[in-house]
Amino acid sequence: MTMSVLQFAESFDLEAAFSDVREYWSPKVVAQVNDQYVKVAKVRGQLAWHDHANEDELFFVVRGNLTIEYEGGRAVHLPAGSMHVVPRGTLHNPVADEECWIVLIEPVETKHTGDVQSPLTRTIDEQLSGAPRA
Ligand code: NI
Repeated sequence: MTMSVLQFAESFDLEAAFSDVREYWSPKVVAQVNDQYVKVAKVRGQLAWHDHANEDELFFVVRGNLTIEYEGGRAVHLPAGSMHVVPRGTLHNPVADEECWIVLIEPVETKHTGDVQSPLTRTIDEQLSGAPRA
């Protein structure tokens, strides 16, 4: 089953949404709230150092542990059940030693790794389509 963006009066089970995610660092859009997308992702290892010039990015850890690394050796550790907002224009790098499940809430135009291109970078269309990484 491929998750699609929620339509009015639909609901979804979060576990089921995650069960559709088969690749790390490949967010899937599961809902839209005004001009924000709600995404689910499984992560392990590290993504890439990047920033989002104009968008704040909310991380909600559902399972496992996530660390958001910042410049200067600063890091925010996020155990399951915790939330963190990465401020716009702030270099960051998400890292997880073990598999971690996260929900992301961010403006629809937010690019996965900002202006940085990484082999892991997913386009917004890919995040909407649910297609596996080519
Ligand atoms: Ni980011």
